[in-house]
Amino acid sequence: MVPQALETFSSGQARYLTANLNKMLTAELTGRMSHLGIETRIIEDDAINLSRYLEDESVDLVAFNHVINDILEHIVAKKNKKDTINIDFWQHFHELINDLVIIEKRGRLKEVVFEEFMELITVAYELLKPGGYMVFNNYVFEETFYKNIDHETTLRLYSSFIDLAREWISESDIPLASVELNGFDPQWWLFLRKDHNKT
Ligand SMILES: C[S@@+](CC[C@H](N)C(=O)[O-])C[C@H]1O[C@@H](n2cnc3c(N)ncnc32)[C@H](O)[C@@H]1O
Repeated sequence: MVPQALETFSSGQARYLTANLNKMLTAELTGRMSHLGIETRIIEDDAINLSRYLEDESVDLVAFNHVINDILEHIVAKKNKKDTINIDFWQHFHELINDLVIIEKRGRLKEVVFEEFMELITVAYELLKPGGYMVFNNYVFEETFYKNIDHETTLRLYSSFIDLAREWISESDIPLASVELNGFDPQWWLFLRKDHNKT
């Protein structure tokens, strides 16, 4: 979705770079981007390592496009020593969700994921040019969760990721200023600008 939008709105001038770990989904994404007329690159590494591949302050926009869920599932999977790289992602999809929901039900979500999530946000912040934007969105397909252990908790947690990111980032000292845009529901969208005068 992001690369297609970049192609359309930059008249083919933009460059798109993403990190992705699961091999099957990297192959899928490579295929889906193959017809695009912009430069694209997938780095098969943890996004937390992106500063090994990119210069600081070299990026105009960091897009967390429906990905807070994936990031948190990945952090939990790593802690549980589960492979998320070489698996058929969609066969393990409900298991990854359940592992995260179990942590939430135990009241341990922040304790388990906060540090690594904020490390990733710090890396993204350092890659951004001054004045650049970090954009988050989220959505849920309620019917997907019926196969999960606790539908109500899953739906509540998976609908709260933007609020969680907003709260955790605002309690840090990363100088990102929140920007409100008309027509974008704050439950599902978060726009932050790299700004040395945090508001
Ligand atoms: C369901 S897909 C992402 C779909 C995407 N958000 C979308 O809406 O099109 C999940 C992917 O996120 C990747 N992922 C999760 N955490 C990651 C991280 N820290 N670094 C790189 N890739 C990560 C997984 O490897 C997997 O390939």
